[in-house]
Amino acid sequence: MNNFSFCNPTKILFGRGQIARLAREIPADKKIMITFGGGSVRRNGVYEQVTAALAGRDYIEFWGIEPNPKVETLRRAVEQCRAEGVEFLLAVGGGSVLDGTKLIASAVYYDGDAWELTLTGRAKGRVLPFASVMTLPATGSEMNNGAVISNAATAEKYAFYTNYPQFSILDPETTFSLPPYQIACGIADSFVHVIEQYLTEVGCSPLMDRWAEGIMQTLVEVAPKVRENQRDYDAMATYMLSATMALNGFVAMGVKQDWATHMIGHELTALHGLTHGHTLVIVLPALMSVMRQQKGAKIAQMGERVFGICEGDANSRIDRTIEATESFFRSLGLTTRLTEEGIGEETIAEIERRFAERGTALGEQGNIDANVARQILERAL
Ligand code: NZQ
Ligand code: ZN
Repeated sequence: MNNFSFCNPTKILFGRGQIARLAREIPADKKIMITFGGGSVRRNGVYEQVTAALAGRDYIEFWGIEPNPKVETLRRAVEQCRAEGVEFLLAVGGGSVLDGTKLIASAVYYDGDAWELTLTGRAKGRVLPFASVMTLPATGSEMNNGAVISNAATAEKYAFYTNYPQFSILDPETTFSLPPYQIACGIADSFVHVIEQYLTEVGCSPLMDRWAEGIMQTLVEVAPKVRENQRDYDAMATYMLSATMALNGFVAMGVKQDWATHMIGHELTALHGLTHGHTLVIVLPALMSVMRQQKGAKIAQMGERVFGICEGDANSRIDRTIEATESFFRSLGLTTRLTEEGIGEETIAEIERRFAERGTALGEQGNIDANVARQILERAL
């Protein structure tokens, strides 16, 4: 087991009616900016609940943080925070709204441009306190310190790290209005978050392996229930908690991590606008296949413990586990091949070029370079 330090300071308020507790969680004297996406919260009653909970408080609203939040939009919010003396940020929406808010919180006191800060990868100096009401289970952003920020002008997308949310409110009822495609992408994203912290070597942490397998099994079990009836409160609650537990640092304790699927996926989003979770289901089965030598023992363990694949020799169990993974993604209603999304050789060449230029070295052994990324993407065609 690797050495690690673990501290997750985010308070989670989970369940029906929890939005009403907002006022108690934000200090009464703070000037608040509430950040939103494109308007889903106006149609599902979340906006009314939030504004009712904060009635009489000093707040302003910032609308229009888009999926894959763009620095061009966030710069405007930073300016507004500075001009109006905002002291606390509350993100209301999906992972994009919260990620964007994390950059806003980090850029207000930064003496430079928000994109320059993104490229450094880490917040510097004072960060405004922030919190969230999360309406889309997927990213784990509600309980982690990461944010993924896009630049429309340069078609780039990078991860950035800052403080943790002070608190996050997770009411499964807010997810009843999600489009089925977002649910599919959210389940896939949560599943792949676990994989990135699991599918490396056997034996790093037997305890964390069991936790990771438990989250994956739970997602596989709950996915059909959620897809059949997304107003099933208990099923949605289970999915929502799984998404949070998948990327809050917990299953990362003491283990090696990969993240190559994500890094390649971010390029597909940057170049084609493909939704994050969807990029992952295209890249992961191909990555498992190309990296089967290195990851074989863990793939077989996953096959046995998550999909119940126990018969046959090691090679055939590995094959069937890769197939089961792809089938699970297809059962969500997602395509799993680049060609199905009209993506081909030109994009593969551009990603290879970008990785070569950046000297990219991904995966738990740092051996997924531009050339291996090409092989993975060719396998995903
Ligand atoms: O913008 P609105 O109108 O609110 O609509 C959103 C958006 O169009 C809609 N939506 C959200 N909640 C809804 C809803 N529609 C109806 N009912 C609801 N309850 O869903 C659409 C997608 O929202 P978005 O926030 O973009 O989705 P998600 O939460 O999947 O976030 C994706 C972003 O997070 C990044 C991704 O790269 C991507 O940029 N990630 C962030 C991570 C992190 N912070 O740790 C890790 C992840 O790996 C991921 O990379
Ligand atoms: Zn993800």
